[in-house]
Amino acid sequence: MRILSGIQPSGKLHLGNYFGMMRPALELQKMGEAYLFIANYHAQTTVHDSALLRQATLDVALDFLACGLDPERTVFFRQSDVPEVHELAWLLSIVTPMGLLERCHSFKDKTARGIAANHALFAYPVLMAADILLYQSNVVPVGRDQKQHLEVTRDIAVKFNNEFGEVFTIPEPYIQDNVAVIPGVDGQKMSKSYGNTIELFAEPSVIKSTIMKKIVTDSTPLEEPKNPETCNVFALYRLFANDEQCAAMETNYRGGNYGYGHAKKELLNIFNETFAPFRKRREELADNLDYVEEVLRKGAQKARDTAVSTLDQARRATGLTTV
Ligand code: ADP
Ligand code: TRP
Repeated sequence: MRILSGIQPSGKLHLGNYFGMMRPALELQKMGEAYLFIANYHAQTTVHDSALLRQATLDVALDFLACGLDPERTVFFRQSDVPEVHELAWLLSIVTPMGLLERCHSFKDKTARGIAANHALFAYPVLMAADILLYQSNVVPVGRDQKQHLEVTRDIAVKFNNEFGEVFTIPEPYIQDNVAVIPGVDGQKMSKSYGNTIELFAEPSVIKSTIMKKIVTDSTPLEEPKNPETCNVFALYRLFANDEQCAAMETNYRGGNYGYGHAKKELLNIFNETFAPFRKRREELADNLDYVEEVLRKGAQKARDTAVSTLDQARRATGLTTV
């Protein structure tokens, strides 16, 4: 089974990325052959500052390696180190109806928020389909917001196979239902574009003030019972906590005399405990960038072998390769 996912280097990684995508992807690396890449071409749809893109790409590499990506099990690479993906994107474009792309929420959302509607943004799902199909992926772990892009990928793959013969494996999305949408400090979907994130590796003082001061709660007085089900602090705490810890916090909420400040402190503690070993590892990696570069270079080499073979089949199927 081949598992593949990608993440855009377009900002600091946050808890939504971690629980929605990184952790499921890291768990899946135990179940099959995993491919994970840093989608720097995709990030270029919104990031045009070259220094920023370079730094964000390195940050994502450090974050994943720190959080447990095992380069012996997972083929880890930069998207742009396998430029074959663009040739495949072209071959997929010829079977992609305009209407399919016009219906994509992410394009509509981004343009509604004032991001210029350039061709790259519009063609984004075709490049994403190429990412997935190039490696004959079976399973693609993503957050719920990417579900439509997976449907588009499947549509394109089926159309291509019907028209040109069986070239592509049809991929399945893998979306963990219990952690489908991680709320941000304001209760909306956590997203760097909403400015409501808790970053994984921010300075400890920043993490502390984000958790203690920015998570929005209601104004129920300290002594009154509270409803954990509607509380942003509890929604985040339960991502880290085991059943016993969740049950204990629920009892505290319902019992009264337990304030949101108490719950936030517990959230901060469990956050720090969970990320302390990752933080240490990240510091070690940051002191050894040659190693990180070597991992990405070797990953790209492996990925490229698979990519070249799929592309060759697609070129033959469409009549580009004549010998
Ligand atoms: P952002 O919304 O911050 O720009 P991205 O769109 O770069 O995040 O998402 C990267 C990955 O993390 C995707 O697979 C996405 O589905 C997942 N993800 C991002 N935010 C969340 C969230 N709040 N809940 C669940 N998954 C998320
Ligand atoms: N579009 C994805 C996101 O914003 C990133 C991505 C690009 C991706 N190519 C992919 C995810 C292929 C999974 C598979 O999160």
